[in-house]
Order: sequence, then structure tokens, then C-alpha cells
Amino acid sequence: MANNLLKGKKGIIFGALDEKSIAWKVAVRAKEEGAEFVLTNAPIAMRMGEINKLAEQCNAQIIPADATSVEDLENLFTKAQEILGGKIDFILHSIGSSPNIRKGKSYGDLNYDWFQKTLDISGLSFHKVMHVAEKQDALNEWGSVVALSYIAAQRVFPDYTDMSHAKALLESIARNYGYRLGRMKKVRVNTISQSPTKTTAGTGVGGFDAFYDYADKMSPLGNASAEDCANYTISLFSDLTRMVTMQNLMHDGGFSSMGISEDIVDMISK
Ligand SMILES: NC(=O)c1ccc[n+]([C@@H]2O[C@H](COP(=O)([O-])OP(=O)(O)OC[C@H]3O[C@@H](n4cnc5c(N)ncnc54)[C@H](O)[C@@H]3O)[C@@H](O)[C@H]2O)c1
Repeated sequence: MANNLLKGKKGIIFGALDEKSIAWKVAVRAKEEGAEFVLTNAPIAMRMGEINKLAEQCNAQIIPADATSVEDLENLFTKAQEILGGKIDFILHSIGSSPNIRKGKSYGDLNYDWFQKTLDISGLSFHKVMHVAEKQDALNEWGSVVALSYIAAQRVFPDYTDMSHAKALLESIARNYGYRLGRMKKVRVNTISQSPTKTTAGTGVGGFDAFYDYADKMSPLGNASAEDCANYTISLFSDLTRMVTMQNLMHDGGFSSMGISEDIVDMISK
């Protein structure tokens, strides 16, 4: 259901890889709600070509940028403002990757060069995005910046290895940059801590199917889907949430408040 919640707003959406991506769903919903935006992803992800379909569907241009490169981000913000004809109202950071997880390294056997890459891609890049936006004075007042996190930032999920530290960094950056941008431009910065979701990044984590089912059985509402996450994100980009900032917002069907559920008890008792 479209309500023109983002009518007249301009944005940058990072991280749409394919139809399953959370960023893809956000782009589709943002378009439905009347926003104009540019899409961006790492040059290497462009090779898949899927993002071109989304660009066509949303009448959006694509500007490649490796989110770890300040130079790429400077080019992205300059071009985005040219294309959209003004400053930016919303940014979605939907980026995550861990070479250690991709290569199946356990927590006790992490490669430290890859660990730093994980932190750079999945955590520090969020700081770089806001740093470049600040330097270019690219954000409109009452803008909204959202990044996607996972509960492993705060609780132990052994297979999430170095990504758990990247997410803790991400959530800390949201608080600290949220303070800064709030004072400077009334811009809010939040992270959404999303349920396990069947995407390329999600299913790449060891044991994904088990913790997807576990979370689903623990949560009174079940797991939040990528579509649900897109709806929540749209609400955070809209003017209905102007005073929400520096928060890590649980979007998990109730999972984070649970101790144990009857479904899990039944499963273990069998
Ligand atoms: N899927 C889940 O279970 C889940 C749960 C909670 C949070 N999240 C988070 O949601 C976000 C989006 O992931 P997704 O699940 O939609 O998976 P996805 O694989 O579709 O998206 C991840 C994106 O990160 C991009 N990326 C990787 N390296 C990059 C770089 N250097 N520069 C720019 N972009 C880069 C990829 O190209 C891809 O588009 C991530 O932050 C992820 O950690 C996912």
C-alpha cells in the first residue's frame, strides 16, 4: 500500500545485489512511496548485472562505488546530487561481507587481514559514508540515515565470527555520528537489527538454516521478512519518525525479548 510517504525525497541506496537483497526491497518500496534515488554497489557486484533490472524498474541511475573507498564515495555523492538535482534526504547502508566467513574460518582461526577487511566493509564504511556526506554538506535537514545490523552485535552467535564485531562497530558509529549529524543538521542515524533473512549475505553464514528456524520458533511473530524490513526502513525515512535517532532498533518479531518459547521446548522434548 503506497501513501506517498517519501514524496519529494531524494536518496542513495547501497547494497542491492539481487531480488532477495533487503536493499532491493527497500528500493522498490521507496519508489512506490514517491522517492527519487540513485542505486550503488561495489563495482565487482555490478558484474552480475541484476541491479540493472532494478534500476529500470525504479527509473534510477546506478553509480558504482566500493564503500571502503573514500574517493569512490566522494564521486558517488557528487554525482548523486547532480543527478537528483539537490541534497540527499535518506541513505540506506545495506552492506555486509566477511572474507573469513566466506572461507569458512572459525572464530579461533581468523585471518587478521581478512578480519580488517570485514571491519572496513561492514562497519567502517558506514563512518566513511557519513564523513563524505558531511564534508560535501550533502544532506538536507531532517534527513535519515539507516544501516542494517544483526543481534550478534550484542549476543553470541558462534558462526557469525568477525561479523559480530563489525556489527558492534556499526551500531556504535550510528550512535556517535547520530549525535554529530543531529546537532549539525537535525539528521537522524539508526541501525535496524533484522531477523535472519534468506539473502546471499545471510545464507553465506555457517549453520544459517538452523538459526533461521531457531529464531522463527523463538519469535512470537516469527522472523521478519526482507519485505517487512523494507517497510520499517521506509517508516524511518519518512517524516513520521523525525525524533528517533542514535538507536539500534530491533526488527525481529520479538526474538530479542525472549528467553525460551513453547515451540523450542516442544522441539527439544521430542
Ligand atoms: N540476511 C540476513 O540474515 C541479515 C540479518 C541481519 C542483517 N543483515 C544485514 O543486511 C545488510 C544487507 O544484506 P542482505 O542480507 O540484503 O544480503 P546481500 O548479499 O543481498 O547484500 C549485501 C550487499 O553488500 C554489498 N557489498 C559488499 N561489499 C561491498 C563494498 N565493498 N562496497 C559496497 N557494497 C558492498 C554486496 O554487493 C551486496 O549488495 C547487510 O548489512 C547484512 O549484514 C542481514
